[in-house]
This record gives sequence, C-alpha cells and structure tokens, in this order.
Amino acid sequence: MESVRLTFRVNRKDISYLRYTIESYDGMGIVKTLDPKSALIEVKTAPGCEETVRQLITAVQREDGIPVEEFRSRIPLSRGFYIATMGCQMNEYDSEYLGSKLREMGFTPVDAPEKADLVILNTCTVREKADQKAFSLLGRVSGIKLGRPEMVLGMAGCLAQREGERLFKRFPQLDFVIGPRELGNIGTLLDDVSYHRQKRTATRLDHPPLTSCSRNLPNEKITAYISIMQGCNNFCAYCIVPYVRGREISRSPEDILEEARQLIANGTKEITLLGQNVNSYFWGEGDNSCDFSCLLNELNGLKGLLRLRFTTSHPKDLSDDLIRRFGELDKLCPHIHLPFQAGANEVLRRMKRGYTREHYMSLVEKLRDAAPEMGITSDVMVGFPGESRKHFEETLDLVDRVQFDSLFSFKYSDREGTLASHMENKVGEEEKARRLAVLQDLQNTITLKKNRRLEKRELPVLIEGHNKKGTQLMGRTGSNKIVNLACPIRYIGSIVNVSIQRGYLHSLLGKPLDFSASINNSRE
Ligand code: 5AD
Ligand code: SF4
Repeated sequence: MESVRLTFRVNRKDISYLRYTIESYDGMGIVKTLDPKSALIEVKTAPGCEETVRQLITAVQREDGIPVEEFRSRIPLSRGFYIATMGCQMNEYDSEYLGSKLREMGFTPVDAPEKADLVILNTCTVREKADQKAFSLLGRVSGIKLGRPEMVLGMAGCLAQREGERLFKRFPQLDFVIGPRELGNIGTLLDDVSYHRQKRTATRLDHPPLTSCSRNLPNEKITAYISIMQGCNNFCAYCIVPYVRGREISRSPEDILEEARQLIANGTKEITLLGQNVNSYFWGEGDNSCDFSCLLNELNGLKGLLRLRFTTSHPKDLSDDLIRRFGELDKLCPHIHLPFQAGANEVLRRMKRGYTREHYMSLVEKLRDAAPEMGITSDVMVGFPGESRKHFEETLDLVDRVQFDSLFSFKYSDREGTLASHMENKVGEEEKARRLAVLQDLQNTITLKKNRRLEKRELPVLIEGHNKKGTQLMGRTGSNKIVNLACPIRYIGSIVNVSIQRGYLHSLLGKPLDFSASINNSRE
C-alpha cells in the first residue's frame, strides 16, 4: 500500500521526542528530518492515519505553546529538482551546495527541467553574453512552467543578485530570486514560496560565508571544489564581481578541513580550493591566525588526498612565500591560473590591477624556478576602453614572452555600475573581434607547440573517469593538461605513470606505463 507523507515545521528541540513518540506509537509512522535548521520533518504514515499523526504532533507542540505548522507543499511529494549552472567554478560549487541542501530536504535530482518540480538557474553576469544566455534559458523554462503551473522556478547566482526583484516583472513565472550569499537560506525561502505562496527575493550581501554543509554528493567525485572564501575587495575597473558577491570573507580552516575530510571519505582524491583571490585568505587573529600558506599546509597533511590545487590568484598579492610552497608541498600540483588581463602598463593602471607587466613577468620566472614543470594559464581581455593598437601589441608581446600553457581570452564587455563602463574611448565591436582572433591564433600556436613538446615524456596522471565521448578514460597531469588514455577502469582515482603519445590543441593522448608504480587507492 502507498504510504502518505506529511510535512511539518515543529519546535526544533522536539524533533527527537516526536520521532520517538510517533515511531513507537504502534509503528504509526517513520519520521525523517528534512531540514534541521528550519525544523522541517516529514512523517511517512499509512493512508487513514494522517489525522492521528496531526493530533499527536499538535498535542506535543501545544505543551510548549508553539503552534504546529503543516507544510502543504505545492511541490509534489516526489520532489524532483534540476539545477542549471552557468559561469565559473564558484557557481559550480554553489550548485553542488544547493544540491546537497535540497537532497537533505528530501528532493531528488532529475536530468531535465521538464521532469522537475523545482528548477533553479544558477546564473553568471561577468559579461553581457552570460546575461543573454541566462535570460534565454529563463524564457525557455518559463515556457515549460506555463504548461506545469505547479513547478517552482527560481533564479540564483550573480545575475539574480544584480537584477533582484526586477526579474519578476519581466518573467512572471519566476517564483524566487536568491543571491550567492543567501544560498544557506534556501530552505526557508522554499517554504515561503511553497507554503505561503509568496514570491521571494533574497539578495543580502552581508551574510557570513556558507558554512558546514554536508557534502552528500550523489556520486563519488575524484576531483572536487571547496570554496574557502567568498567575495572580492579589488574593484578592478571592469569587474562586476564585488558588486554581486560582496566583500571578501574567509571560511574557518576547521570548516574547510571538515569539508575536505568528508570529500576524501567519499572517494575524492584531488581538491581545488576556490576563491576570487585566494592569496588574501585569512582567518583569526595573532598567534591563532591562518593565512593561505598555512591552510595549504594543513590540507597537504590530509591522509587519502593525492592532489591539491587552488584558483584564482591575483598577481598583486602572489607572495614569494606562496610560490615557495610549490616546491615544498608534495600534493600541491605545479599549476597556477594567474590572470594578467592586459599587457600594457597604461591599460593595467586604468584597470586598477595594481601591478605592472614587468612585475607579472618576474612572477612567472619565480614560479618556473620553484617548479620547472609549472603549467601557467591566464585570463586576458581585449578592447578595454582606451586600449590602442599599440597597447594590444604589448598584450601579444607578453603572451609570446610568457608562453602560457593555455589562455582564456575575452572581448571587454561593459558592466553597468563599474568604473570602466563610464570611461571614454570605447573600442568598437569589430575591432575587438579582430584583436581577439589575432590573440587566439597566437595562443593556439603556442599551446599546440607546448603540447607537442610533451610527446614521449612520461608524466603522472590522476585518472578521473571516462572522457566526454565515453570511449576512453581521462585524467590530468599535475600541470592540468587533459590526457585521454585506454586504461582499466579500476585505476579511476589512482595516479598512473603515462607515456604521452600525441599532443593536440586541447588534450594529450597517453598510454599507461607501469601500473605497479601507480599510487595506491586503486580499487583492486
Ligand atoms: N568584460 C570582459 N571580460 C571580463 N572579465 C571580467 N570582467 C569582464 C568584463 N567586463 C574576465 C576577466 C576575468 C574573467 C573571469 O573574466 O578576464 O579574469
Ligand atoms: Fe563567477 Fe563572476 Fe560569473 Fe559570478 S559573475 S558566476 S563570480 S564569473
């Protein structure tokens, strides 16, 4: 016989007592805590027993004078959720956090918005293109919701933060808007939307960072992210991030280590620490403080972890002390993502980046001295307001001198409210496109040349899983290059010595060498 599920918000301290009472009352029902913070419980009972359960709960609560609240969700009991993630690794992490929270609340993931009772779009707004992508997806899902009015539709992330309530006018199907700093409140927000049938906006920026979320990931993840801090204090002239993610705030080392231990216990072998500017990670005071190097030391000591990475670093804050760690910490991979943004000092000054091209190149030199295999990747933009052709030539010159392993390059995009959006001498779209094509051509030649140079080399590769086509396995070198290879699946999660057969533009082709040398953790 199908059981019936009832959901109640109760007094938090009564949860155990209620569980005991209901479960021992002739097996009246099974009690599950959906959300400990907002004290939501679910009682699974037999049809016909609903009233008795309600009376029992009301009786217990009445003793405390607290009214019992039954949560008659407009989200059906099967509660499938779908999260679409756009933007950077921060957003990927935030979506995982949301997913974990939703699973704790009794939701289950589904693989398409058409099948979901709750759809959340986790958006980006770093460039205009990201806005357009998010609006177009929101329009499409709004269309799906027209045919399924019981669906709950929410928008999260940086665009949601920027647009706030304005979104409801343009997209009347939208039920809630939640910014990156408010994700911890998703439970209460969903209550309001579902139970009180209100539209809700949660876009405060003064919240502390997300804390202790159990990483109950549905599957084992060989590589995982941990956000160590949120926000940014830099206010580079072009950038919207400080306005949508707030000021910098670090998480406690205890919280981070606990999350890392949970991931490792669940099979994770490589952790990437995330922050807009990880170099300024800082926690505590005086003797009890912990900076980024100290955090890396702690994580490097975790048993079961094979590799450690971090992103993103800011050239103005990258210290010699941190550079030295690359040579000292055995788990820290020789890869750094160090955005340079522009090659001309005049442009860097107007971008408010706080360093010169000479300083940037001296960092590259130090990094390569610290770890000769160091993979260096970067971000750069073309067509910042006032960027002349000569300035652009300096960007090309820097790219040529540094020889990056790969480069993310973008056309400058005006972001409302930033300093640069008010600057004069904007570069035309056509010219930006021309510069981007020239830059990307140059970098492609460099990337391919560097990848070809790895042919016949023997490199340790952490096997992560199947490649995109599902035909082979894939893994990464310490320097973060993708390697495709034919390899028994039992080596997923192990570091294997691989001989590089071919170097392509976006990946390497490898052949596993000596399995006996692979670093433990294989599932044999
Ligand atoms: N226009 C173009 N690119 C931008 N980025 C950040 N803001 C803008 C903008 N307004 C790029 C920078 C940054 C990367 C994440 O996105 O290169 O490092
Ligand atoms: Fe990430 Fe910036 Fe996009 Fe936000 S706006 S998702 S921080 S890239």
